[in-house]
Amino acid sequence: MAHRVISLKYRPQNFDELTGQNHVVVSLKGAIKSGRIGHAFLFAGPRGVGKTTTARILAKSLNCIEGSTVHPCQQCPSCREITLSRSIDVVEIDGASNRGIEEIRNLRESVKYSPIHGRYKIYIIDEVHMLTQEAFNALLKTLEEPPPKVIFIFATTNPTKVPATILSRCQRFIFKRLSVKEITTRLRVIAEKENIKLTNDALHYIATRADGSIRDGESIVEQLAAFVEGEITADDVFKLIGFLGSNFYLALIDKILAQNLAQVISGLNNGLEDGADPIEIYRGLTNYLRAALLLKTGLSEEFIELNTEEINRLKALPLDKEGLISMLEICLHFEEMIRRSVNVRIAIELLLSQLVLNMPHSQEQKSKNDSDARASLDTSDLKRKIFDPLQKKSPKLAGIVQKSTIAEDAHNVIITVEDEFSEKQLIDNHRIIESIVKEKINPNHSLIIQRTRKTKQVNGFVDAIKTLFDGEEVR
Ligand SMILES: Nc1ncnc2c1ncn2[C@@H]1O[C@H](COP(=O)(O)OP(=O)(O)O)[C@@H](O)[C@H]1O
Ligand SMILES: [Mg+2]
Ligand SMILES: [Zn+2]
Repeated sequence: MAHRVISLKYRPQNFDELTGQNHVVVSLKGAIKSGRIGHAFLFAGPRGVGKTTTARILAKSLNCIEGSTVHPCQQCPSCREITLSRSIDVVEIDGASNRGIEEIRNLRESVKYSPIHGRYKIYIIDEVHMLTQEAFNALLKTLEEPPPKVIFIFATTNPTKVPATILSRCQRFIFKRLSVKEITTRLRVIAEKENIKLTNDALHYIATRADGSIRDGESIVEQLAAFVEGEITADDVFKLIGFLGSNFYLALIDKILAQNLAQVISGLNNGLEDGADPIEIYRGLTNYLRAALLLKTGLSEEFIELNTEEINRLKALPLDKEGLISMLEICLHFEEMIRRSVNVRIAIELLLSQLVLNMPHSQEQKSKNDSDARASLDTSDLKRKIFDPLQKKSPKLAGIVQKSTIAEDAHNVIITVEDEFSEKQLIDNHRIIESIVKEKINPNHSLIIQRTRKTKQVNGFVDAIKTLFDGEEVR
C-alpha cells in the first residue's frame, strides 16, 4: 500500500467530496456564492468529522485564482499550495500547542500584512478552546476591529470552552458525528481504491468502532490492511483491534437472562482476554440493550445502527420493555462507579452480578405472569375469595384486585399492583378489603398492599427515553 497514510491521502479537496455535513456545505456554498463572507467562522464538532478539511476547502474556495468559487480549480498556485499545506496566505495554528499570549501577539502583528498571493489572509486555529484567557482577550481585540482581508476559521471539539465574546463574533457551524452508514460508504470507496478487500461484516464493525469519526475508521482500515493478508473479515476486526461483536454481547445477555453468574463472569473474562477494554465492554453492553429497547418501541431500524442479523437477534431476545428498561437503569447506575473505579474490572463484575440478581423476569417468572394475566377472571381461589364480595361493594376496586397479583404467607395476604393509581385506590380502601380478608380467608391475617418495585424504578428512565424520542440526546 502507498506509504502516505490513508487519512491524508483521502482528505477531501472540495465540498462535494465531503461525506455528510450537508447542512454545513450548503450554507458555506451559499455564503461564497453571495459574496457575504464573515470575518470569523467557528467549526464545532467531534474529532475526525471534517472540520480542518472543510476549513482548508473554504480557504481554497476563497483564494482560488478564478475568483471566490464553490468549485476551486485545484490547479492555480493558491489551490495547489493549500493542498500541500504550503500557502503563505493560509496559516494553520494548533491552538493546543500555541496556547499563550505570545503566540496571539505574534498573530496580531502578522495580520497587519496583506495577503501575498491570495485575496484573503486566512488563519485556521485548530482546537481553539485550548487558548488561555489572555490569549482569548488578545484575539478578541483583533476580532473587534478585524483588519480587511483577514479571515479566521476556528475549529474546536469543545465549543462550550470558547468564551461567549468570541462565539458571538463568529459565524457558527456545527459538524455532526457521522453515521455508521456514512462511514461505511466512505470506507468502501477508499478500500476499493486502495485495493483492500473487506467483507461487509468487517466493514460494518469497523464503521461501528469508528464511533462517528471517519478518520478513526480510516486508521482502523489501515491498521488491519497492514496485518491481514487477503480479505479482512469480522474475525480479524475482533482479534486485531480488541473489538467484540454482537456474538459476544448477545451471549453475555443470554447468560444474564439465564441467571448464571459464573458463566456471566467467565464470559466477561473471555472478552477481556481477547483484548477488549473493560469500559468498552460496558459501553457495548449498554448499547445493545438500548438497541433492543428501541427495537421494542417500533422505532425505525435505520435509527439503530446495527446490521440485519444483529437486529433480528435482538428482536428475538426474550425480554419485554420493562425488563430492558430496568436492566438499562441498573447499567446507568453503575456508570459513574465504572468511570471512576481504580479497578474497573471489579466494578463491571459488580454490575453484572446486579443484573443477574435483579433479572426482573426470569423466563419462568414471565410465563407465569403471562398465564396469570390470561386466566383473568378465573384466577386463584385466593383472588376469587376477595374479588366476589368486593364486586358487590365496589366494582372498581374489584377490577383492580382482579388485575393484581395476590399471595398469602403465614400472617398476611399481599396484593401487588402495577401502578401508583391502583395502589392508592386500594390503600384508601384498606379497611374494607382487609375486613373481607379476615372474614373470607383468615381472621388473623393482615392485608399488605404494595406496588411492583419494577414500576417504581422505571419512571426516571422512561422519561429519559421519552426525551430521546423528542429528539434530544440523553448524555
Ligand atoms: N466528512 C468527511 N468526509 C470525508 N472524509 C473525512 C471527513 N471527515 C474526516 N475525514 C477524513 O478524516 C481526516 C481528518 O479529518 P479532519 O478534517 O482533520 O477532521 P477534524 O478536523 O474534524 O478532526 C481527513 O483527512 C479525511 O481523510
Ligand atoms: Mg482537525
Ligand atoms: Zn484555484
